[in-house]
Amino acid sequence: MKSRPQADNSDTPTPQITVLDTGGQYTHLIARKVRELGVYGDIQPSETPARELATRKGIIISGGPASVYEAGSPDIDPGILAAGVPVLGICYGHQLVAHHLGGKIQKGERGEYGIAHVAVAKPDALWTGIAQSQVWMNHRDTVSAAPPGFEIVASTETSGIAAMSDDTRKIFGLQFHPEVAHTHAGTEILRNFVFDICGATRDWDVSERVPLIEDEIRRTAGDRNVFFFVSGGVDSTVAYTLCLRALGPERVFGIYVDTGLMRKNETEMVRAGFEELGAVKFLVDEAEREFLGALEGVYDPEQKRCAIGEQFVKVQERILATEHFLDGHWILGQGTIYPDTIESGGTAKADVIKTHHNRVAGIQALIDSGRVIEPLTSFYKDEVRRLGRELGVPEKFLTRHPFPGPGLAIRCLCSDKRAAVTETSDGFLLPIRSVGVQGDSRSYRGVLALPRHPSERDVEETAPRLTNRRMDINRVVAFCGGKAPLRSLEAFEATITKQRLDLLRDADAIVRRFCVQTGFEDRVWQFPVVLVPLGTDAMRESVVLRPINSVDGMTADVVLIGEEMLDRLTRELLELPGIAAVFYDLTHKPPGTIEWE
Ligand code: XMP
Repeated sequence: MKSRPQADNSDTPTPQITVLDTGGQYTHLIARKVRELGVYGDIQPSETPARELATRKGIIISGGPASVYEAGSPDIDPGILAAGVPVLGICYGHQLVAHHLGGKIQKGERGEYGIAHVAVAKPDALWTGIAQSQVWMNHRDTVSAAPPGFEIVASTETSGIAAMSDDTRKIFGLQFHPEVAHTHAGTEILRNFVFDICGATRDWDVSERVPLIEDEIRRTAGDRNVFFFVSGGVDSTVAYTLCLRALGPERVFGIYVDTGLMRKNETEMVRAGFEELGAVKFLVDEAEREFLGALEGVYDPEQKRCAIGEQFVKVQERILATEHFLDGHWILGQGTIYPDTIESGGTAKADVIKTHHNRVAGIQALIDSGRVIEPLTSFYKDEVRRLGRELGVPEKFLTRHPFPGPGLAIRCLCSDKRAAVTETSDGFLLPIRSVGVQGDSRSYRGVLALPRHPSERDVEETAPRLTNRRMDINRVVAFCGGKAPLRSLEAFEATITKQRLDLLRDADAIVRRFCVQTGFEDRVWQFPVVLVPLGTDAMRESVVLRPINSVDGMTADVVLIGEEMLDRLTRELLELPGIAAVFYDLTHKPPGTIEWE
């Protein structure tokens, strides 16, 4: 992820509340909560100098995984604690406040993770009107002595100082996380901070922003036209529609690259959908042969990603040249949203778990010279959906699950050799490998199959125990059914072919229809369907179901389907020619990634 100067959205309000990012996974959640209260705020690096924040009405320091006494851990400019602007420190932020103002931090051995109950001894302004006591804790260190001038407000059994404050200086600290749903009064606490303590005013209503964004697009474009590479995903579709409305259909060019790695009927759906939006200049670039050619003989997941990334570069370069998009009349439109613009310890992974996309030199040059329109850089995904509704973008675009850039290629496993399933004391070791993430590092390991249907217990106990203990696997799956016994299955040599992709498309379409009909679609964040070259001589493929829930894709939880529904789905999948077995992925992320490659 690359940070870049924000578009000069002169209509965007001045941020009232700033969240200082200390690298935690919940930083965006805090900022979103503030937005939900109708107040415009932003996220800045934790070290931002106090003078740059002097106009803010309040500052929130987020929680992160660091420890204040460790060298190099994220810090703040202590000036923000002396500026008279109200400050709320959360978790690590709470510890930073204590550390800077003369309190003490104790290194935790065991930490406290999960639900706790606070006893509020001396309610301060944050706690006005709050009767709920359940909070969410996720920390190792604790504040063991409050700084001079602070009162201890609340405690739990393991955190003596779960909340503290200095009402005179308007500095507050919370050991728990008010931004997560498990803290029942979290929104009330943040509301008290934002309105009563900081005196912020409501200045943010997404539905009022459409005309302002359109004005901004017209100003930025001037007399130039805009071209977009669209994917059919929410962000690029909404950004494109805004430009279409602002500039008129003759001035906005949409290009969709059909890689041949898309889901069934995807290209037709995108073409028809864009027509419905009013597109007249819309090009579908048929590039299936080029992409399949680039993937010929490739087995390794990272090599697949690179081959696809490089092919994208070539196709885009070809289109830029033939359509003359690099000359001065054109400007590039993109659907970049707010979280994509933030570069921070918490949101940029250190280790490369998976290679995402490359950037075409021509496009980089456009970005570097400011010839780019990104109308959504101030918005979160849920706000982009609301804008889309405001614009009349069809729901089928707005409620789609995320879909990875490399498409079905990373859901179509390959194998360079024939090998048999082996029985072990824990289950059956499948002779295939998938990508995982363990301790923030990439892993590429085997898969263990349990010879039984998926159960809650296997998800919560068996799978974590096995992936923790066995170094040869990073995933556990359940065997939902097959046309041959599990122990008789073999892996076959396989690469990506049109025939295999078509089979995967058919399996994926069955699953999708099933999900829509049963309402399961709305219960999951994403539902990859994976084809693995595992079967018998006569039927050489199996399907793996991978339904998960997530907030941002960084972590994910397995979602189970009811027994009877799963049986029906399994039976239907086994009717596809060539499918020998159906498996169910029981692995949370971590240690398994959402996609298998
Ligand atoms: P993983 O598999 O890393 O996926 O747990 C996390 C989320 O990212 C999506 N994903 C991608 N999205 N280009 C994308 O635009 C990619 O190369 C890519 N790889 C994974 C994945 O679908 C999930 O939502």
